Amino acid sequence: MSERFYITTPIYYVNGPPHIGHIYTTVVADVAARYQRLAGADVYFLTGTDEHGQNIERAARERGITPQEHADQIVAAYPPLYRALHITHNDFIRTTEARHAVGVEAIVARIAAAGDLYTGRHEGWYCASCEAYYTGKELLGEHACPTHDTPAEWRSEENVFFRLSAYQQPLLRWYHENPDAVQPESRRNEVRAFIEGGLRDLSVSRQGLNWGIPFPGHAGHTVYVWLDALTNYISALGFGHGEDERYHRFWQHGGTRLHLVGKDILRFHAVYWPAFLMSAGLPLPTTVFAHGWWLRDQRKVSKSSGNVVDPGELIGHFGADALRYYLLREMVFGQDASFSDEAFIDRYNSDLANDLGNTLSRVVTLSRRAFDGKTPPLAGDPQLQAAASEAVAAYRSAMDGFAFHRAIEALWRLLAQSNRFLVAREPWKKFKDPTQRDEVAETLFNVLEAVRIVACGLIPIMPEKAAAVLAALGEQRPESLDDLAWGATETGADLPATQALFPRIDKAAYLGSAPSPVLRKVAEPSANPQQADPHQANPQSGEERTVISIDQFFETQLRVATVLAAEAIPKSNKLLKITVDAGEADPRIVVGGIAKQYEPETLVGQQVVVVFNLQPAKLMGVESNGMVLAASEDGAPVLVQPHRPVAPGTRVR
Ligand code: MSP
Repeated sequence: MSERFYITTPIYYVNGPPHIGHIYTTVVADVAARYQRLAGADVYFLTGTDEHGQNIERAARERGITPQEHADQIVAAYPPLYRALHITHNDFIRTTEARHAVGVEAIVARIAAAGDLYTGRHEGWYCASCEAYYTGKELLGEHACPTHDTPAEWRSEENVFFRLSAYQQPLLRWYHENPDAVQPESRRNEVRAFIEGGLRDLSVSRQGLNWGIPFPGHAGHTVYVWLDALTNYISALGFGHGEDERYHRFWQHGGTRLHLVGKDILRFHAVYWPAFLMSAGLPLPTTVFAHGWWLRDQRKVSKSSGNVVDPGELIGHFGADALRYYLLREMVFGQDASFSDEAFIDRYNSDLANDLGNTLSRVVTLSRRAFDGKTPPLAGDPQLQAAASEAVAAYRSAMDGFAFHRAIEALWRLLAQSNRFLVAREPWKKFKDPTQRDEVAETLFNVLEAVRIVACGLIPIMPEKAAAVLAALGEQRPESLDDLAWGATETGADLPATQALFPRIDKAAYLGSAPSPVLRKVAEPSANPQQADPHQANPQSGEERTVISIDQFFETQLRVATVLAAEAIPKSNKLLKITVDAGEADPRIVVGGIAKQYEPETLVGQQVVVVFNLQPAKLMGVESNGMVLAASEDGAPVLVQPHRPVAPGTRVR
């Protein structure tokens, strides 16, 4: 039976559209889920939205709509965003769904049956954004919330209480017996110290709040949002609906039950939630993993700070996979990280455009040129195999331990080793020499195989781009982690022509004058044309500038040809049929759109430059085998010619 792996994200408040801090956890969960699926696990991946509470009620009131309408509008942003980000969740739970209320009622009933609920008066400082009480000691300055730095309000009301204090010892025992249950270690120690400091009973109902689940048996009370929200992890599996198969498979008798959370909500997951579950006699999570915050200008990215980074814009400009890569590469899982457009572009250019994109196009282009469009015919010695095995072992242990940045580093080490190997062996100098053919084959095979392994490792992280890299290598997507083993590249297999998978981003042009955090594309008209760099883009043309590697440029073969004959093509006022000597055994025919500017007879004997390896095309019934190069002056062609006559067939480069 395959290992069961249940992974959850926090459910997101619907007080604003999802921002980078929210999608970070979802991307991490998706990467982990995809990786576990490749490892053969039986995976269930849950995410969703937290829609009850005072905050939402207030936000809806301010907008003059009902809380449900408000929630529906915010939640509508999730499906397209998750699709764009290639998120493969199995379920999306909303706490306003009936199936969730059933689960909440069921857990409250079990906690009540355990004798852990009583009614009492509650007084304290309440932060509505956190939906939590704080002690005077925990507050900042003028009674400000330690997380939001906004004023907390004094509250006094009759509530239903949960005997949290009774769970101090059981929780400490759980921590002792399951040292890895809360990660990373620094956070575990923090939470343990909090528990050791003594636990006070927790109020788990609210009065005067309509937007919530009615507290069973306590008219006028609603269930405290955190008890409501935390229960999503089992209500979504069908808890409370009798013998639900999914609940049994992934929770009651599950393998891994893993909650990913931000550090600000660790206490709820590592103290309250296990205590609720203990009281209800239900299994506890096996792991709660807390990550740090994305900061901008040293502050947590959040709606209330007004410094949100909109994931939709980033995806639109850079692509979902580049964003996924950046989020995982830049944040050491567990620690804070700073978001900046500059760092994003630097990472993209150096890691993706340069290290990965250039290595790929270099090795594929060389193989195609040296071996007639195919992978090398001989495998030779597996020179990079040891490096690849080391990288794969490091990658796997890092992925298993949620150290995604290290997993990526391991793959990039292999790329760097492959590049050094290429540079040392210089196949580009040798591939025309038949005596060195075997060595060139061996070199290229090794690097192709190393790049294939890197791409397989990247599948969970950049699913679409990694698949494109594999397609460029003539490979299929990996089906399991076994595909990370050395040796799957076929010899003599067709290699498609390379395309720029990671065109470089021009940092200066992007960052130039744009006022927003996520910036203009080179192709977009400049807000301030004076600041646009004329070497980077043609502001009038509106053409998007795609940067290509030198190898990609060499995919286009340009040759000098001497015109042997030229004639007008009947019924066309634009096209000429031009017969040229391009240094081959037979003359070739190219059709050029230059009839309005050039008399056919004046062309004979002239030299032109033709694109030599262009796919033939029929134009007005004449097959054209190439294209004559011309500068386009206000749309009118001006032929490009060599400065002095050269032998027909001479390459232009
Ligand atoms: N609704 C609660 C969670 C209930 S789970 C049973 C909540 N929602 S939230 O929308 O405020 O935050 C959801 C998650 O997003 C939290 O894990 C939080 O840490 C994370 N992030 C919100 N802003 C963040 C950053 N700037 N950086 C990283 N993650 C942060 O809390």
